[in-house]
Amino acid sequence: MKHTKEDLIAAAADVRTRAFAPYSNFKVGAAVETEDGEIYIGCNVESASYGLTMCAERVAIFSAVAAGHKRIKGISVVADSDELTAPCGACRQVIWEFGGDIPVTLSNLNGKTETIQMIELLPHAFDSKYLK
Ligand code: THU
Repeated sequence: MKHTKEDLIAAAADVRTRAFAPYSNFKVGAAVETEDGEIYIGCNVESASYGLTMCAERVAIFSAVAAGHKRIKGISVVADSDELTAPCGACRQVIWEFGGDIPVTLSNLNGKTETIQMIELLPHAFDSKYLK
């Protein structure tokens, strides 16, 4: 990686402060590193129509895709929870789409951190290989 794991965590922690989460009060930040070493960030964005809420992970990934990137090689997720916050099921599917079996670094605001591989979070993933 061009950036360190710490760079990705710092980027996710920073964007987390801009989360729009007035309903859950649960702010999340995410940062992805693209194949060529660029960092894209995302925070969760909620809606009064709750189901429209978008998670931080997908905001970060879609932002990278909108900028022209198709592959990511790592993602960091930061939330204020004692038990480290892992991506929801929908986000796991989207992370797999653009990254496959990449490292996912989970961190809280107290410096607790753990890195898990996507294959552990989403075994037997459905993906494009089934569509060929
Ligand atoms: N959330 C994320 O942004 N990422 C996660 O990994 C877990 C959940 C958001 C969605 C919602 O705005 C809030 O956290 C509570 O579910």
